[in-house]
Amino acid sequence: LRSTWLSRVAEAPDAAALEEVRLAALGKKGEISALMKELGRMTPEERQTRGAALNRLRDEIDAALRARKLALDDAALDARLAAEWLDVTLPGRPRPAGSIHPVSQVMDEVTAIFADMGFSVAEGPQVESDWYNFDALNIPPEHPARQEHDTFFMARAAGDDRPPHVLRTHTSPVQIRAMEAMGAPLRIICPGRVYRMDMDQTHTPMFHQVEGLAIGRDISMANLKWTLEEFCRAFFEVDEVELRFRASHFPFTEPSAEVDIRCDWSGGQLKIGQGESWLEILGSGMVHPKVLKAGGIDPAEWQGFAFGMGIDRLAMLKYGIPDLRAFFESDLRWLRHYGFAA
Ligand code: PHE
Repeated sequence: LRSTWLSRVAEAPDAAALEEVRLAALGKKGEISALMKELGRMTPEERQTRGAALNRLRDEIDAALRARKLALDDAALDARLAAEWLDVTLPGRPRPAGSIHPVSQVMDEVTAIFADMGFSVAEGPQVESDWYNFDALNIPPEHPARQEHDTFFMARAAGDDRPPHVLRTHTSPVQIRAMEAMGAPLRIICPGRVYRMDMDQTHTPMFHQVEGLAIGRDISMANLKWTLEEFCRAFFEVDEVELRFRASHFPFTEPSAEVDIRCDWSGGQLKIGQGESWLEILGSGMVHPKVLKAGGIDPAEWQGFAFGMGIDRLAMLKYGIPDLRAFFESDLRWLRHYGFAA
């Protein structure tokens, strides 16, 4: 009996098999337990010898079970350690890290600078109605400015002769949407994508603008000038900038001005704030009374300034990038060259 049980314990291949052996021997219905129950029906003499022997046997099997259990646990741990072994001295596998696109970076910077001056961010759709993109901005259907915008039109269903929607050609429609949504007074910028059929070294069919609009009871061109100077100082990180306001014409502002910044190209590198060159950076003006009216604001009570500038252009200037098209080619070598990707 002893050698049978001891060898069954020794041969149990794993913890589950070992537990079965334990139950079969020492469990409530195990063989050894059954033998011990029989002691009750024996004479005192028999019980003394048989009982002592059975106790010894039970203790021996119990000890063997424990020892086997420890051995099996050890073996299992060894197997696991061998399987999960890891050489921490091996070099890691490099993983390509993503980064923020330069245009997005500039967009974030521009937004932060204007936020410091109290402008909040407004948004509008990229597929825009003819009304918001043109009419409400004082560009009626026969206006020559419509041709200058090289507009992408959305198709209408056959037989639907309403004016087609357009891919917005500028962020100015958001002026109207913001006036409608918030009323006066108002101070917003709108960074976003715009579209025109145009493609060369400095133009892509999709590009980015940021619109600015401030409306109050006595907003003037002086506020516009200060705001833009503050912005340029912060954006180009220079102490002094000089802006030149050139009289111009936009249907939605009166008077209108294009704004140039003093810079220096000599030596092939652009320096902002000094030099003999001027670089156009944006269009601006006082919001036309008809535009205020289209936005539901009374021009007798309120006036405001607006401006629109090209974000991609600002990025080109800030990072010295000569070709705008490269911005949108997702060429990692190009992004790395300018430090925009790891
Ligand atoms: N929307 C004009 C453009 O795209 C820029 C502009 C905005 C001019 C606001 C004046 C006021 O060229």
